[in-house]
Amino acid sequence: MNTAARLFHFLGGEAGPWRVIAQQAVVGAPLAPVEHVAVSPTPDSACGWVLRGITSNERYVERGEKEALVARQQSLGRPQSTRAALIPLRKSAAWWALTQDERRDVFEARSRHIETGLRYLPAVARRLHHCRDLGPDEPFDFITWFEYAPVDEPEFDELLQALRATPEWAFVEREVDIRLAAL
Ligand code: HEM
Repeated sequence: MNTAARLFHFLGGEAGPWRVIAQQAVVGAPLAPVEHVAVSPTPDSACGWVLRGITSNERYVERGEKEALVARQQSLGRPQSTRAALIPLRKSAAWWALTQDERRDVFEARSRHIETGLRYLPAVARRLHHCRDLGPDEPFDFITWFEYAPVDEPEFDELLQALRATPEWAFVEREVDIRLAAL
């Protein structure tokens, strides 16, 4: 897929197909409160803030995990997925100073990110966007996007609570949790 097709802009402002139902800084600086979010291939200078990220190759997944993910995960845009979560995160310099094998050790051997996440598929659909690949001035390292049915929101909250208690999250220095409802 070419670069343009992998680049997503998250536009926070007064218009857009997703209505903000909650917006909270979990750790670090907040984002300005907005009423709506749109996901777009292009930026828009008229809105309150713009976050951008690009999908990329996987860094940590091993073959068996990949097969388990492919067998269970579903696509974004399902009609019943009328709730979404937009969660941008930044990890610390200490995380980025680790080697790849050390990061995998924290991410999976010690934090069970994939093993835990798999339990919430297919209810939750997700897309991970990387920001560091776009340059040194991005405010976040990752923009994460999740979609699910309203009935599955308590399970999504439970998943987040579990992940936030892991050694991986000790490296998270900025996280904003934005919950959305489809118009
Ligand atoms: C819904 C179930 C979930 C599954 C199945 C899942 C799975 C994964 C997988 C497989 C990766 C690694 C991709 C790679 O190899 O590069 C990953 C990375 C990541 N996930 Fe999740 N995840 C889930 C939920 C979450 C949640 C709720 C968050 C919280 C915001 C989250 C945040 C992240 C972040 C920030 C990364 C990038 C980590 C890094 O590269 O340092 N994930 N996830």
